[in-house]
Amino acid sequence: MPKIKIEGGHQLTGTITVSGAKNSVVALIPAAILCDEKVKISNVPNITDVNDLENILDHLNATTVRKDGTIEINSSDIINKEITYELSKKLRASYYFMGALLGRFKKVDMYFPGGCAIGARPINLHLKGFELLGAKITEEDNHFIIEADKLKGNNIYLDFPSVGATINIMLAAVKAKGKTIIDNAAQEPEIVNIATFLNNMGAKIKGAGTSTITIIGVKYLHSCFHEVIPDRIEAGTYLIIGALLGKKLKIANMIPNHLEALIAKLTEAGVDMEIGIDNIIINEVKDYKAVDIKTLVYPGFATDLQQVMATFLTQCKGKSLIEETIYENRFQNLLRLEKMGAEFKIAPDNRIAVIKGKAKLKGTYVDATDLRGGASLLVAGLIAEGETTIDNISYILRGYDQIIEKLTEVGAKIEII
Ligand code: EPU
Repeated sequence: MPKIKIEGGHQLTGTITVSGAKNSVVALIPAAILCDEKVKISNVPNITDVNDLENILDHLNATTVRKDGTIEINSSDIINKEITYELSKKLRASYYFMGALLGRFKKVDMYFPGGCAIGARPINLHLKGFELLGAKITEEDNHFIIEADKLKGNNIYLDFPSVGATINIMLAAVKAKGKTIIDNAAQEPEIVNIATFLNNMGAKIKGAGTSTITIIGVKYLHSCFHEVIPDRIEAGTYLIIGALLGKKLKIANMIPNHLEALIAKLTEAGVDMEIGIDNIIINEVKDYKAVDIKTLVYPGFATDLQQVMATFLTQCKGKSLIEETIYENRFQNLLRLEKMGAEFKIAPDNRIAVIKGKAKLKGTYVDATDLRGGASLLVAGLIAEGETTIDNISYILRGYDQIIEKLTEVGAKIEII
């Protein structure tokens, strides 16, 4: 099995260019099958989640052509059949085929999605939304058949502003008859990116990016060209790396507005950043002080940056408190960081951790347990004394485009072995 080997302690200088957003593209690709013609999407990151979605499209007889960061999807000859257990389980975002196939064919046959084991991650809100649009759901042993004679717009209130449920309901509702209103909708930038894509195809969606989204159903969706927004989690990861090792390190092709909570917390810790329109420069590493973070839905502090931030906090002087409010199991990385020399305590409910810094991290063998936890270990390896070997790296490659190449380019000693 391939592993990542890192020799820690090297200063990083130059420019890291951020790729297209994983959590946007993984919804845009399933959304493309709602189009009655061909669509083209650009700024597509080279990550394994995209390959897994291509395999599902191939299984459904849709064609894809991927070249130079673009993907062209033609689903004119798509066949609506069961998405097998193996294909559904590969990734979390396979669940976007629920909304997309329901919208297009009024029927979906697939299994419970996969994804990182960071909590229970139920899909009850997605299913509730489909039912309110008129669908009937049959579930047995994690196998779902969702079907409707016809889909009819409705008022849908989400008990929690779930990213997945908001997008999935939008996907089904664009082809439903009449008006759908989603209240307490998620407001993440990825939601806006998907709504813009659908509107470019002729959908009528208003309010994406706010807590109330209104969708008027349409019969036909036409060809369009669309660009994936920059990945705010990838940008945030490199910003944190820059704070720990950067010397005139520029993070380019990013949207600083999408990272306000992280920028505020790094500033509070003492990180000195030059914030441009589409880039941030970190001039030098300083001594940092402890800060507390609490994960929240957007625009709060992103849970997807919590684990990488934990590595940063091991380097801040004093006690930092992390409160994880989104997932029940997102501290698995801390046990690996402990092997490297980090000091922390986790509360019995697994929702609060206190990190004591500044710790001297030492390279060792660690295994990634999930995507962002893997990234947290990788950042630790970059700052640790000596050599770090990371196992289970498929988690990291699922979500970070060319991470080895990008870091090598700015001076890191990192390779896949
Ligand atoms: N939830 C429910 N019921 C539902 C849906 C969600 O209880 O029907 C709960 C979840 O269990 C969780 C919380 O609501 O505790 C948030 O879930 P949400 O639905 O918002 O997340 P998601 O759609 O499953 C996406 C990203 C995650 C990211 C979250 C939050 C994708 C494929 N995944 O997940 O990304 O953490 O939104 O921003 O877009 C990652 O990139 O590492 C990652 C895990």
